[in-house]
Amino acid sequence: MMGRGILLFLLVRLFQFLVVEAATDPQESAVLRSLKTQLQNIPPNWVGSDPCSEGWEGIVCTDTRVISIQLSTMGLKGQLSGDIGSLSELQSLDLSYNPGLTGPLPPSIGNLKKLTNLILVGCGFSGPIPSEIGYLPRLVFLSLNSNRFNGNIPPTIGSLSSLYWLDLADNQLSGSIPVSSGNIPGLDMLTHTKHFHFGKNQLTGTIPAQLFSANMNLIHVLFEDNQLTGSIPATLGLVKTLEVVRLDRNLLSGNVPTNLNKLISVIELHLSNNDLVGPFPDLSGMLVLNSVDLSNNSFSVSDFPPYFSTLMSLTTLEAENTNLKGLLPPALFTLPQLQTLNLKTNLFNGSLDIGSDFSDQLELVDLQNNSITGYIERGGYPNELRLMGNPVCGGSATAKFCQLAVHSSPPYSTPPNTCVPSLCPNGQNSSPNCQCSFPYSGTLFFRAPSFSDLGNASYYTSLQSSLQASFTTNKVPVDSVSLSNPSKDADDYLEVSLQVFPAGKQSFSRSDIAKMGFMLSNQTFKPPKSFGPFFFIASQYAHFSESDSTGGSKKMSLGIIVGASVGGFILLMLIFVGVYLFCRKRVKTATERRNVSEPRHSGATSWDPTKSSDSFPQLKGPKVFSSNELRKATNNFSEANDIGSGGYGKASLFHFLKNFMLGEPSQFLCLLGVYRGTLASGQLVAIKRSQPGSSQGHNEFTTEVELLSRVHHKNLVGLVGFCFEDKEQMLVYEFVPNGTLKGSLTGKSGIRLDWNRRLRVALGAAKGLSYLHDLANPPIIHRDIKTNNILLDERLNAKVADFGLSKPMGDSEDGQIVTQVKGTMGYLDPEYYMSNQLNAKSDVYSFGVVLLELLTARVPLEKGRYIVREVRVAMDRQKDRYGLNELLDSALGLTNPLKGLEQFVDLAMRCVEETGDERPTMSEVVKEIERIMQMAGMNTNSDSASLDATSTRSSPHPYNNNVASFDYSGAYTPPHPY
Ligand SMILES: *[C@@H]1O[C@H](CO)[C@@H](O)[C@H](O)[C@H]1NC(C)=O
Ligand SMILES: *[C@@H]1O[C@H](CO)[C@@H](O)[C@H](O)[C@H]1NC(C)=O
Ligand SMILES: *[C@@H]1O[C@H](CO)[C@@H](O)[C@H](O)[C@H]1NC(C)=O
Repeated sequence: MMGRGILLFLLVRLFQFLVVEAATDPQESAVLRSLKTQLQNIPPNWVGSDPCSEGWEGIVCTDTRVISIQLSTMGLKGQLSGDIGSLSELQSLDLSYNPGLTGPLPPSIGNLKKLTNLILVGCGFSGPIPSEIGYLPRLVFLSLNSNRFNGNIPPTIGSLSSLYWLDLADNQLSGSIPVSSGNIPGLDMLTHTKHFHFGKNQLTGTIPAQLFSANMNLIHVLFEDNQLTGSIPATLGLVKTLEVVRLDRNLLSGNVPTNLNKLISVIELHLSNNDLVGPFPDLSGMLVLNSVDLSNNSFSVSDFPPYFSTLMSLTTLEAENTNLKGLLPPALFTLPQLQTLNLKTNLFNGSLDIGSDFSDQLELVDLQNNSITGYIERGGYPNELRLMGNPVCGGSATAKFCQLAVHSSPPYSTPPNTCVPSLCPNGQNSSPNCQCSFPYSGTLFFRAPSFSDLGNASYYTSLQSSLQASFTTNKVPVDSVSLSNPSKDADDYLEVSLQVFPAGKQSFSRSDIAKMGFMLSNQTFKPPKSFGPFFFIASQYAHFSESDSTGGSKKMSLGIIVGASVGGFILLMLIFVGVYLFCRKRVKTATERRNVSEPRHSGATSWDPTKSSDSFPQLKGPKVFSSNELRKATNNFSEANDIGSGGYGKASLFHFLKNFMLGEPSQFLCLLGVYRGTLASGQLVAIKRSQPGSSQGHNEFTTEVELLSRVHHKNLVGLVGFCFEDKEQMLVYEFVPNGTLKGSLTGKSGIRLDWNRRLRVALGAAKGLSYLHDLANPPIIHRDIKTNNILLDERLNAKVADFGLSKPMGDSEDGQIVTQVKGTMGYLDPEYYMSNQLNAKSDVYSFGVVLLELLTARVPLEKGRYIVREVRVAMDRQKDRYGLNELLDSALGLTNPLKGLEQFVDLAMRCVEETGDERPTMSEVVKEIERIMQMAGMNTNSDSASLDATSTRSSPHPYNNNVASFDYSGAYTPPHPY
């Protein structure tokens, strides 16, 4: 006794140690808890004091330290306090798209020495950018855009030697662009940085020549929409890596440096809306240029430069109001990708000749306000041409090109996927797959797309599929992505509305949203190249679903998982010991009680169910065995005869835990084992042996005896007899040699089920259930249909087993009974689970899950993956095999034709509909499987017709029939002896 006490004590201490070991660092826990009190709309699962092991949403830890905070689009409100600077292991902070986060950014941010990603895009921060931000030596990604920061760009940013992404755009920053001088750092030192995004601020001063050098690796220089003055520094021409240059919408003056055309990788060049002078820029040799905008500058009058006709990648040429004169060369129109030509307000004269070999992508030729006197209509250019304000439109000209076209076609919007859009309840939208749900939405801003034909759907479909693919890769449950209303805004950004719809549910969880927000804010998502640099601003999401199992738990660190597993294992052992002691004690007390108070029962008293009794109805049929008979049949319950797992489950501990969870710990508590035995008659049987003594165990025992004695069907496991004595409580079943369906599907039993066999198994099990529902009197609900409870006989006929949880429906009029929820997770009817209303449709649901298991051979509920949801999400009725190939059991031979597969899937999905009313009855299921088998060219009758007749005949008074009259087909079952 003493020894066990010490052992227990040690185990408990070990357990505590492991749990304490996994807890969050107390200081960091305090920081997060203070964050919680300072900010509104923190995720509701931020409770307790151990963020790391309790899986607080948006918090990622290693061991005990917080390394990442991801709270994009949470609707956070309030000011960020300086406490945040104490999370000294923090690597990534994403608070993007929380416009309610206001006030200054605390300077203590500079204490986060491990920070690599600081993402605050789309918040409401104001005040200066703290210069301490330059003390983050590991910072790679800095996104402060679309806030209300003001003041200067801190020169210390120049110290961020690892910086890759610098986005300060869309703020109220003023002053000049800092460059280094003496000990003072500057942005010219950022030789690793690829992105300078400073657009939409109030920056003044010149663009320092020092800013650029041949050492730089910039690919995007975006300075648009500021108040920069002076001339474009010639040093820009040294940055050979550049791909996108936007200096438009400033006050730049002077000549365009002549070496600009050395930037041969540039695809987007915007110099428009400045005061640039001198010769029209020479862009010859910039062969990958897609889009050029030089409009609204004061270049000296010049002829249209012939080099444009050699820029074969050009999609868009804008040179409005740039003093171009003379004839427009017809060769320009032959550029194969040309979409838009904006040459308004120039000095072109003569007759316009578009030629007959013009680009088939050409959508708009805008030559308003020139001096064009004629139009040579040669090749029948069909799209928009604007010549208003030219002599050719003078007087009473009525030509089409003299009037502004009225655009009637609505802007692009993702069309429905060959389905009829649903009328959705308030606030929900119909997805492209016509499912109603609450989408995650916002606007994508493309700062320099390489195309200008906004009506061309192919751009959006490729954007759409790249978004969808990216969400899928990152394991966000996305049904579909919808894009709409593309338009150019005042900054010449392409704006596109985005809606992302959740898969298999009405709304996204917080962790889904935070993940999608991060994918877009951290630029994990990369749009197709033609869309160029982008940013996203999310709308607020007001319909978070309750967090699902993919939430916080996944973010547990390895240490915690190991700790929890070891702890869980120890707990399990303790329970096991407890169960053992409990059983022993109960057996003892039960025996003692009987010995004392019921002396006439002492000894090997047997209970005879054929005599009338309180607890049993009068029964005929099953034989009453003495424990001695069964002892002999099993060679004294020898281990060699212990078949444990074969359908009744040696898994008593598992059963115990299951029933413990379901609030019924005594069920199966004291199951001793399942044995194979040979009766004196030679019949093979399976004997389920449990400890007597508990009243609930007794109830279950009587239930099973009673039910099984009344039902007889080839697809139900038959009860041969039972034993009920003081010390023994046993059920004797017909022996079903091929184990459980689960064993076959998992490959454990060595039986391979091809498609036809699976159909046959499904049919058999369905018939057994249909018999219970429709022909048994009173009808019976099984309540625990699962692949573990479907056995396969020697001919692989299915037999439904384990009636321990079954309920007769006799005493209810409407076929509904209210009862405590029992059954097995993964198979449980959600409606029954929520309402406690049990009816036959709950079995149909479980059966639907079994059908899905037949298809996929997957565990119904595993690691938060639920088979019903998986199939529902993956399934696409437009595709061959409904696109389910990846989910299908590979043992089915995926190259084989699986005839009737689609109908089988349809049937399974109808069985697992949300509400019972939508599910078929078991007899309808039987008919449908028969129809599918006929389609597959199989015979549905040969094996079962006579037996069906038998079972039907037996239904009115099944227990009046002699069991011996039923057919126990198969080699193992000699003529029934009873
Ligand atoms: C050029 O300036 C005019 C007048 O300010 C403006 O309407 C037009 O949009 C500008 N063109 C471009 C291409 O920016
Ligand atoms: C176009 O204008 C130029 C002067 O800018 C003139 O020399 C030329 O003759 C004109 N061409 C035509 C066809 O009117
Ligand atoms: C975030 O972005 C950076 C820079 O693009 C990248 O290196 C990093 O892998 C991204 N992080 C995640 C988790 O995608």
